[in-house]
Amino acid sequence: MKFIKLIVLLFVVQLQAQQGGMWIPSLLKGANEKEMKALGMKISADDIYSANHSSLKDAVPHFDGGCTAEMISPKGLLLTNHHCGYDNIQSHSTVENDYLTNGFWAYNMEQELPNKDLTVTFIIKIHDVTNKIFEGVLNLPTESDKQKKIQQNISEVSKNFTREAWQDAMIRAFYDGNQYLLFVTETFKDVRLVGAPPSSIGKFGSDTDNWVWPRHTGDFALFRIYADKDNRPAAFSKDNFPYKPKRYLPVSAQGIQENDFTMVMGYPGRTQEYLPSFAVEQIVNDLNPAKIEIRDAALKVQDGFMRKDNAIKIQYASKYAGVANYYKKWIGETKGLKKSNAVAVKKEFEKKFQQRVLKAGKEPEYGSLLTDFEKNYADIQEYALARDYFSEVVLRNAEILTFGYRLYQLEQVYNSKGEQAFTDRKNNLISSFEAIYKDYSPEVDEKVFEQLIDLYAKKSPKQFLPKSLNNLNASALTTSIFSSSKLTNYTGLRDLLKGDAKTVLKKINQDKAYQLVKTLADGFTKDVAPKFDEINLKNSALQRTYMKAITELFPKDRIFPDANSTLRVTYGKVKGYKPSDAVQYESVSYLDGVIEKYIPGDYEFDVPTKLVDLYNAKDFGNYADKNGKMPLCFIATNHTTGGNSGSPALDAKGNLIGLNFDRVWEGTMSDIYYSPEICRNIMVDSRYILFIIDKFAGAKNLIDEMTIIYPKSRKAK
Ligand code: ARG
Ligand code: ASP
Repeated sequence: MKFIKLIVLLFVVQLQAQQGGMWIPSLLKGANEKEMKALGMKISADDIYSANHSSLKDAVPHFDGGCTAEMISPKGLLLTNHHCGYDNIQSHSTVENDYLTNGFWAYNMEQELPNKDLTVTFIIKIHDVTNKIFEGVLNLPTESDKQKKIQQNISEVSKNFTREAWQDAMIRAFYDGNQYLLFVTETFKDVRLVGAPPSSIGKFGSDTDNWVWPRHTGDFALFRIYADKDNRPAAFSKDNFPYKPKRYLPVSAQGIQENDFTMVMGYPGRTQEYLPSFAVEQIVNDLNPAKIEIRDAALKVQDGFMRKDNAIKIQYASKYAGVANYYKKWIGETKGLKKSNAVAVKKEFEKKFQQRVLKAGKEPEYGSLLTDFEKNYADIQEYALARDYFSEVVLRNAEILTFGYRLYQLEQVYNSKGEQAFTDRKNNLISSFEAIYKDYSPEVDEKVFEQLIDLYAKKSPKQFLPKSLNNLNASALTTSIFSSSKLTNYTGLRDLLKGDAKTVLKKINQDKAYQLVKTLADGFTKDVAPKFDEINLKNSALQRTYMKAITELFPKDRIFPDANSTLRVTYGKVKGYKPSDAVQYESVSYLDGVIEKYIPGDYEFDVPTKLVDLYNAKDFGNYADKNGKMPLCFIATNHTTGGNSGSPALDAKGNLIGLNFDRVWEGTMSDIYYSPEICRNIMVDSRYILFIIDKFAGAKNLIDEMTIIYPKSRKAK
C-alpha cells in the first residue's frame, strides 16, 4: 500500500513537472520531445521544426508583430483572433457597413478587403549566433560598454548574415542575454480580410468575461495572404496571387477530451519567470496596486459616460478595452501571486540556490547575487514607482497630457535636430492627431484628468513631485487647464501648430496643459529616468548572471528562456481546475452557455438571432460532439502569455483543434509564476469556428478550401 502511494506520488510529481515552459522550437529534440511523447504526442520534434523540410513552424507566422496566426489552406487562408484583427475590422467599418457589429464575410476572393500596414512574418530558420555576439565583449570594463558592443555585434551579424534578397534577419537575446539566436524571416505585406463574426460572437462577454473561465467567445477572424508570381512577399497589388504556404494545418473536427495532449505554437511576448523574490514582492505590493488604482479611476469615469452616451461609447470602446485588459490582468495576477505564495516559494528557492552556490564553491561568482538584488530592488523602488505613475498618467490615461507629451517631443526634436526635422514631425502630428481627436471627448477627459492628477499629487513619490503639485487643489487646476488649453480640440491643436518653430514653441509654452506636461516630463527625465536606467542596467546584468547560475546549479530542472516575442512551443493536457474551495471547473464549454448568458440588447451579452435559431433547431452541421452538443471553448495546461493570442492549439498529430485567445482569471500570474495546478490557457474549439463559418455565415467557399478531419464515425456531409 505504502509503495503504491509512493509510486502514485512520484507519478503526480513527475506529471506536474512536465508542464509549463515556452520552448524554442529548434531545440526540442531530447528532453522536450521525450516529455511530449510521454504526454501523448504522436509526431516528432522534427515534424515541428526542421531547417531542411517543411514543418509545422512553416504554418505559424507572427501576425502584425503582436499576435500569432496559422495557415489553414493551400491558398493562403489565415486564422487568428477577432481581437487581433480588431483594428483592421474596425478600419473597414462605417455606420452603414459596421463589420464590428454585423460581421464580415467574403464569399469569393474579389470581396476580400486589403489592409494598409498589416504584416505577417514567417520564420525560415533559426541559428545560434551566441559566440559571434559575445566576440570582444567579455573583457570590456563596464556593463554599458558591454551592452554597446553587443548591440554593435548584433547589427553587424544580422546585416551580414547570408539570406535571400526578400528575407530579413533578426537577432534576439535568450536566457536574459546568455544566448543569442538569429531568425531568418519572410514578411508578407498584402494581407486581406476574409471573414469576421459579429462582435456578439467574436467578442461575446467582452470585458466582463475577459480573463475568465467558463468562457463562450468565438474569438476568431480570417485573413488571406497574397504574394507575387514567385510566391514571395510583395506590396499590395490586385495582380498578386494567393500565397501557397509551405505548410498548412488540417482542421480537426474530431474534438478533444479531458487529459488529451495539446500543444500551442506561437509568439509569446514577455514573461519574467526568474525574477528574485524582491522583485515579485515589489510588483505585488507596490507597482501593480498603483497601476490598478490609476486605471480603476480612469475606467470608472469612462464607463459612466459610455453607458449614458452612445457616441462616447463608440469613441472610447477600443481605448477602454485596451486599458481594461491589463487593468484586469494585474488584479488577477496580484491575487494569484498572493494566493500561491509566490514570494515565499521564491524565497525558499533562493535559500536552496545559496546552498548550492556554497556547495559548488561558486561563492566568488555567485555568492553576492541575491544580496545585490535585494539592495538594487530597494534602491529602485521609488524610481520604479515614479516611473509607473508617469507612464500611466502622463503617457497613457490622462489624454490631454498624452497630447501635450507629443508636443513636448516636438520641442525636443527642434532642440536636437533643427527646423526641418521640426516641420516634418509637426506635419506628421497634424495628420495623426486628426484621427486621435475623432475619438476624444474633452468632457470625459476633464473628469479623468481631475482624478488622475489628484492621485499623482497624493500618491506618487513626493521627492520627485514638482512644487506646483504640492498641496494641489485638483479641481481648480483642472478647471483652469480645461477652460483655457487649446489641446482640448483638434482646431485648437491646429492653431497651436500654425507657423514656424519659434512661433509654435512660443504658443505651446503659453498653454497651461503644455506647461504642466513640460514640468512633469522635465522632472521625470532629469530626476527619475537616469537613476532608474542606471539601477535597471545593474539588475539586468545581475539577472543574466543569476540565469546562468541557475542553469549551472540546477542542471536537472526544466529551465526555459523567458518569452521574447519569438516562436515557442508549449505543451500540456486538456484539464479542468479547482479555482477555490468546493469549486471545480470542467474543461469544455458549450453553446448552451451562450444561451444561459444571453441578455438581449446588452452590449456584452447580446446574441445574434441566427445563432439562437441554429441553437434551438440543434442545427450544428458536421460539428456537434457525439452527444449532439456544440462545444465552444476549452482549457489546457499550456503555458501562454500575451502574444500567444491567435496561436494554434494542436492535437497529438499536429492537427488544429483550437485557437488560443486567453487565460483563466486564477492563473494570470503565469507570466511571473506558473503553477500547473491553476494556470490554464483558453482556446476556441475548432468545431465552433467551422460551425460559425459554415452554418452561421454560410461561407462554404472557405470550408471547401480547408482540409477538415472528421470523426471516424462520421463522413463529411
Ligand atoms: N485577455 C485577452 C488578451 O490578453 C483578450 C483581450 C481582448 N479582449 C477584451 N475583452 N479586451 O489579449
Ligand atoms: N489575450 C492574450 C493575447 O492577446 C493572450 C494571453 O495573455 O493569454 O495575446
